[in-house]
Amino acid sequence: MYQKLMETAVEARKNAYAPYSGYRVGAALLAEDGRVFTGCNVENAAYSPTICAERVAVGKAVSEGATRFTAIAVVGGAGENPSDTCTPCGVCRQVLAEFASSELAIVVGSPDRFAVHTLGELLPLSFGAGELG
Ligand code: THU
Repeated sequence: MYQKLMETAVEARKNAYAPYSGYRVGAALLAEDGRVFTGCNVENAAYSPTICAERVAVGKAVSEGATRFTAIAVVGGAGENPSDTCTPCGVCRQVLAEFASSELAIVVGSPDRFAVHTLGELLPLSFGAGELG
């Protein structure tokens, strides 16, 4: 299942718009209802409006009515065939925490060789809705 999700992330990465960094990222987000939402990074000439692949996927999902997730696969790196392991940035981890438990599986690497982390591992002691009463 995770291998398939990684393959979907690789497909999504093909649409990455990354003319400034050259670092292309694809994400595939699995919702509790079984739907998969994809995302790629979308950069901007003013730099700070750039949005990561993971947050594009979350935005697409929430806008389609999916608000709980069980896994996300992320594939990224420079060039055509990335060798890097791309883990979600801090902002994306926080956004994922809004819509998932600490058990969310974060799958990184490549379809052939991937590692599975949990959100709890990558974002310990997180701040969330529970803190606001
Ligand atoms: N990026 C992502 O899309 N996801 C990540 O998890 C890390 C970084 C993007 C943002 C920017 O377009 C490029 O990678 C370099 O930082």
